[in-house]
Amino acid sequence: MEEYLQAFALSTSDLIGKRVLDCPSGPDSFVAEVNALGCNAVGVDLVYDKSAAELEAKGRADIANCLAQMKGMPQFYPAMDFDQYSKDKTQALELFIADYKKNRKRYFHGSLPKLPFADRSFDIVLSAHLLFVYSPLEEDGYLKSGNLDLQWHHQAVREIARVSAREIRLYPTAAMNSSPRRHRYIQPIMADLCANGWRVAFEPSQYRQLSTEMNDCLVARRLS
Ligand SMILES: C[S@@+](CC[C@H](N)C(=O)[O-])C[C@H]1O[C@@H](n2cnc3c(N)ncnc32)[C@H](O)[C@@H]1O
Repeated sequence: MEEYLQAFALSTSDLIGKRVLDCPSGPDSFVAEVNALGCNAVGVDLVYDKSAAELEAKGRADIANCLAQMKGMPQFYPAMDFDQYSKDKTQALELFIADYKKNRKRYFHGSLPKLPFADRSFDIVLSAHLLFVYSPLEEDGYLKSGNLDLQWHHQAVREIARVSAREIRLYPTAAMNSSPRRHRYIQPIMADLCANGWRVAFEPSQYRQLSTEMNDCLVARRLS
């Protein structure tokens, strides 16, 4: 939750009492933690058709893999305390697994660009570390192969906007593969949102994992 609040430039008071969607929610503790504070939050992810045991095993393996990769590229993580990172991620995974077992109805299996909700079901929709990041390498993303191209992003953001009554926040906005600049999809996505009744701005993010100077989230608010 702390990482999300930093990434999305939010405080808990922005969320308490609100209907919040986190998509993709991953094997992470944001939904569990903000519900405990009085927020009405649910998550969507394409892995939520799996059992708690499967997600826990995969989550633990992912943390170990991630750690090994980051330790192999220390120049990209100058301020990283790797032991603390491992403890924090494991604690978040364990919180998620406990909530996934206890409050299964908060976790919806789904796959962007389609969401299983009616129009304007949420006050705020958050989306971190999927959009832009999972686009092809040659289009500013991370993936060597994959089909999350600009057309997919238009569909996904329109769908996120469809289910939000008021606000959406997307993180990150930077290109993954070069010196600091915006991802090339940001401009057309912004133009599409503006043409469909949204006002768009950027807010600085405090979340620092990668050593990039371009670190903000896209905030869109519905005008009508
Ligand atoms: C890097 S994780 C990010 C999780 C979380 N948002 C965070 O920032 O910690 C990416 C997540 O996206 C999910 N995912 C990938 N493609 C998806 C899609 N088309 N629709 C929904 N979730 C998807 C994966 O299962 C994974 O849990």
